[in-house]
Amino acid sequence: MAGLIEGLPSGLRGDYAGLGADLTLAQDMAGYAPADHATWRSLYARQAALLPCHAAAAFREGLDRLPFAAGIPDFARCSALLRAATGWVLVAVPGLIPDAAFFGHLAARRFPVTRWIRRREELDYIVEPDVFHDAFGHVPLLTQPDFADFLQAYGAMGETAARIGALKPLARLYWHMVEFGLIREGRDPRLWRRHPLLRRRDAACDRGRCAAPAALRPAAGAAQRLPHRSVQPTYFGIGGYAELFATMPALPALLAEARDAAPIPPGAAAPGDQPL
Ligand SMILES: [Fe+2]
Repeated sequence: MAGLIEGLPSGLRGDYAGLGADLTLAQDMAGYAPADHATWRSLYARQAALLPCHAAAAFREGLDRLPFAAGIPDFARCSALLRAATGWVLVAVPGLIPDAAFFGHLAARRFPVTRWIRRREELDYIVEPDVFHDAFGHVPLLTQPDFADFLQAYGAMGETAARIGALKPLARLYWHMVEFGLIREGRDPRLWRRHPLLRRRDAACDRGRCAAPAALRPAAGAAQRLPHRSVQPTYFGIGGYAELFATMPALPALLAEARDAAPIPPGAAAPGDQPL
C-alpha cells in the first residue's frame, strides 16, 4: 500500500491503508503481542548498556523520564509527559512518511513514531525505522527544551523547502544533525557522544572516543548523500545544542544552493570540512 502514497518507496512494511490526511493512525496498544514487548525489552537492554559510554547526557536524562524499560511504551502516556516538559506529543504512523508530511508534523510539535516493531532476527539491524528506532532513538531528547525548540523550527523550514523544491537537502541535513549527530562533552576534545543512539552497527565511537568527526557545516550536511545499508562514513559534531539552532537563519539560502548543486557522495569530504 505504501507505493500508493507519493514520495514513498513501494514495499514498505507498515499498514498504509485507511490513513487520515495527516498520515497518522491509532497506536493500538492492545495489538502488540507479548513477544513484541519482549523484543522491545531485548533491544532496550542492549542499548541501555551502551548509554554510559556512547550517549549524550541530555539523552540519558531524557530517557530516565520516560516509561521505556518495561515494554513498548504507550504513546498517549509519553505524550502527556512530553507535553508537560516541552509541548511535544507523539503520533503513530505506519512507517516512513513523505518528507513534507514529516516536517509538517515537526512544525506542529508532533513527533511521528512508527507503530510496529521489528522481528527477533532483526535485533542488530533493520532497514526501515520501527517503534524502537523512533521512540528510543529520538524521543528522549524531546524532553530537552533546547533540542525540542530546534526540532520544531527545523520542521517549520519544511514549508520553505517545499516551496523552493529543496526538501531533499533539508532531509539530508536532518539526517546528519538529528539521526547521526555527535556532541562534544567534557573537557576532553576527543570525547564525542551520540545524541541519538540508534543502531549498534553505527557505533563509530569506542568508549566515547570517536575518530575525526567533522565540525558541523550545514552546507556540507545538506549536500552529502547518506549510505543506507552501510556504516556511516562521515559524522558531524557540535559543541552544544545551541549550534543547531544557530544554523536556522542561513538555511533557506543554503537549501537553495544545495538543491542546485550535485550531491556529495557518501563519505567524500566536502570542500571546507574541518576535522575535529
Ligand atoms: Fe530516525
